[in-house]
Amino acid sequence: MTAGEIISMLRLEAHPEGGYFTETYRSGESVARAHLPSRYGGNRPFGTAIYYLLTPDSFSSMHRLSSDEIFHFYLGDPVELLELHPDGRGEIILLGSGLAKGMAPQAVVPAGVWQGARLVPGGTYALLGTTVAPGFDFGDFEIGVRAALIERHSSSAELITALTRE
Ligand code: GUN
Repeated sequence: MTAGEIISMLRLEAHPEGGYFTETYRSGESVARAHLPSRYGGNRPFGTAIYYLLTPDSFSSMHRLSSDEIFHFYLGDPVELLELHPDGRGEIILLGSGLAKGMAPQAVVPAGVWQGARLVPGGTYALLGTTVAPGFDFGDFEIGVRAALIERHSSSAELITALTRE
């Protein structure tokens, strides 16, 4: 199977921050803003899910969300997921099916942690899913700026440079 075949079979579209996606689930019920932490600017669905595809010429740009996000590995080649924590710690999680090689089929990015992802160089595609609760809303999304991230997380400078556009 090729990335192009997966894009057409699952009807994926270009994600604004890189890669290809389609939303597969958005709960029909929501939590009122008054019952959410103050960082949320409105009501939010209980949860959302997407398919997310990475290809050699795409990556997920460094960003952070107001909600925890859980990644699920489905098919293809391994992915490096960079997490930059508020305490300054940088962490690279290998998403994939190679358990014996230290890969994880699932990973959590806590709310407020900077995250970005790409194929481990040499891979051809990876099909992932992500689930977010309370559900995804662009109002809860903040894009990372390279210079500011590197200033705070200098030991991850090389990967930050690869995972930012400006
Ligand atoms: N719309 C654009 N990006 C996303 C995302 O990451 N998740 C969901 N659920 N919807 C989106």
